[in-house]
Amino acid sequence: MYEEFTGKHFITLQNWTKDEIDTLLSVSTDLKNKFKNGEIIDYVKNQTAFLMFFEQSTRTRNSMEAGITQLGGHAHFLDTSTMQISHGEVAKDTAIILSRYGHAIACRNCFWGIGNKYLNDLAKWSTAPIINMQCDLYHPLQAIADLLTIKEKFGETKRKKISIIWTYATSHKKPISVPLSQALLFPRYGMDVTLAHPPGYELPNWVIAKTKENAKKSGGTFTVTNDQYSAYSDADIVIPKNWGDWVTNPDKATGGELLDANRHWKCTEERMALTKDRAIYMHALPADRGNEVEDSVIDGPKSVIYDEAENRLHTSKAVMALTMKSNYTG
Ligand code: CP
Repeated sequence: MYEEFTGKHFITLQNWTKDEIDTLLSVSTDLKNKFKNGEIIDYVKNQTAFLMFFEQSTRTRNSMEAGITQLGGHAHFLDTSTMQISHGEVAKDTAIILSRYGHAIACRNCFWGIGNKYLNDLAKWSTAPIINMQCDLYHPLQAIADLLTIKEKFGETKRKKISIIWTYATSHKKPISVPLSQALLFPRYGMDVTLAHPPGYELPNWVIAKTKENAKKSGGTFTVTNDQYSAYSDADIVIPKNWGDWVTNPDKATGGELLDANRHWKCTEERMALTKDRAIYMHALPADRGNEVEDSVIDGPKSVIYDEAENRLHTSKAVMALTMKSNYTG
């Protein structure tokens, strides 16, 4: 039953069917229970995953490293600035060689217009599965952990109002890959998805079209608005988070007039009061506290950020246990 996953690339959940994603969720829950019960598992014993990072990470790196250790294998952390990539070595050569040495290649490359192409180039040449640890377009490891968290909190996802809301932040110009992956995935689970942002922070047109198509197929809905209040109003789930204006302005510099003009896009207690009583607040983290969100919200009763971050471990393990040469049988 699980053999069909061996070698499958995990670059975007758009290339995974709903049945495959359901299996990924059930394996995540199984591995989570086994972890809580202290069971020793060795589904990828003695196997190596190479973790290539072009950028910083706390959750992704550590959930992958801890995850493969718990599965009986080993991770190599690769800071790409110390690899021959920095002297121009191409994805083809890196992919062929690393996949001869080990059993999975995971990569984070968020450079706008480059990252996803790089991942696909690796996938073209690698004989091992490629796992996307975030690129300029997708962050499937985050989206699947978010979906698991929502299912744990609500059980049924159909017709839940979930709002992906842009917020102000100054830390750095963040990729669009988190909201993009969430927008594409959640309608497939019948949710009513609202995407709210100020003018200038649009997601690509093809994402809007694909998200509408995903919603239509599953009985959910998809609404795009420039009104943050309507996004909070009566929501079951809110995900207020910053992303950069990459689509309208590919310059990688942080800041500028557009950003400054939208300081008022912040998740506040007042706005959270518009959500349902049992609503939850989610954030992929790291959060720009004080700018994106008030401390009283992110540390408040509706916040599930630590459960969400914990689920990065269990879902990452499920991705590796399924796609690597695994002896997982359930
Ligand atoms: N959410 C997330 O991907 O966190 P890191 O950047 O710390 O990996």
